[in-house]
Amino acid sequence: KREADKIQVAELPNKCPRRAPSLRTDPALYSGPFPSYRRPSELGCFSLDAQRQYHGDARALRYYSPPPINGPGPNFDLRDGYVDRYQPRDEEIREGLDHLLRWLLEHRGQLEGGPGWLAGATVTWRGHLTKLLTTPYERQEGWQLAASRFQGTLYLSEVETPAARAQRLARPPLLRELMYMGYKFEHYMCADKPGGSPDPTREVNTNEGFCSVLRSRLGSHPLLFSGEVDCTDPHAPSKQPPACYVELKTTKEMHSAGHWRTFYRHKLLKWWAQSFLLGVPNVIAGFRNPEGLISSLKTFPTMEMFENVRNDRDGWNPSVCMNFCAAFLSFAQNTVVQDDPRLVHLFSWDPGSPVTVSVHRDAPYAFLPTWYVEAMSQ
Ligand code: A3P
Ligand code: MG
Ligand code: MG
Repeated sequence: KREADKIQVAELPNKCPRRAPSLRTDPALYSGPFPSYRRPSELGCFSLDAQRQYHGDARALRYYSPPPINGPGPNFDLRDGYVDRYQPRDEEIREGLDHLLRWLLEHRGQLEGGPGWLAGATVTWRGHLTKLLTTPYERQEGWQLAASRFQGTLYLSEVETPAARAQRLARPPLLRELMYMGYKFEHYMCADKPGGSPDPTREVNTNEGFCSVLRSRLGSHPLLFSGEVDCTDPHAPSKQPPACYVELKTTKEMHSAGHWRTFYRHKLLKWWAQSFLLGVPNVIAGFRNPEGLISSLKTFPTMEMFENVRNDRDGWNPSVCMNFCAAFLSFAQNTVVQDDPRLVHLFSWDPGSPVTVSVHRDAPYAFLPTWYVEAMSQ
């Protein structure tokens, strides 16, 4: 009998019959050719207003309005208005996929791709995909993604890790101000109407946001995802979204080749992943000095970002990012077999470890709301 056991065990690929499935994240495992990624096309959009209320239109979209090229350089005081003209979003409210699900419910009859397309798709936020793309290179922050299959579709919704929650609740005052400054930059660079001028006296309310809903495909995985878009450029060469969209970022002024190297290796990877997924062609960076002033701007074309690390042994590789994301989607599709909106497979990852899975039912992990499940079942 013992001999027979040995043979059985030896015939299993990793000699470990009961080990739960997991997914490794080492960059070296994903360095194949770049997988196919369908050019993202916009299916629609929605807006969230100052009270965080959903509107199925583009009312929160803002218009890129940089300072004149021939005029004096920018001199934006990012700390202006902090804290008296600041209405931060309540981060205790867990929205999950709710706004995206509302859009999907209202548009499920008009989806392109034919009947059955949605049943084969993965639905999530762009921000969750960004985290997947950067996972092979991430050394600081882990993540948890809850997954449920319903009517064939795989839904992925992030769960705040206990570590992230603790960090958020203990966020130091300087970091809070830095967060404000990122949003304030948008107010200096955008107008409410095409051809209008920015109004930096306006209150910064981070409840407001414009979200684009897109269709794409990574390898064999059809995707429907939504992401927040900072603004649209009325003078962009292509008027067609997402090619007209612009991503705004602030970053520290750099003073040495070493600073630039570090920036290329870490921050630019996140900028690339975020904008590449959605098809945003350009990121406009504002460089902030220690006093919180923006005195210069620089355009980083998304498709040229990789050039800065192509010859860097400690750089990142877009193929690794996309291959890992495709592998995760396959892993999730193969793991979440049962079609049940109350069942959750929780994918957890910490830097230095593989992605692991645990199974849960109902609260607190189930995230597909009853109103969605019932309306979709009509
Ligand atoms: P920065 O552009 O200076 O990073 P986004 O760039 O994605 O449009 O986000 C706008 C701003 O939101 C950021 O400005 C930053 O201030 C804040 N922000 C976004 N993600 C954040 C995060 N994970 N932690 C802290 N602040 C964040
Ligand atoms: Mg934004
Ligand atoms: Mg931005």
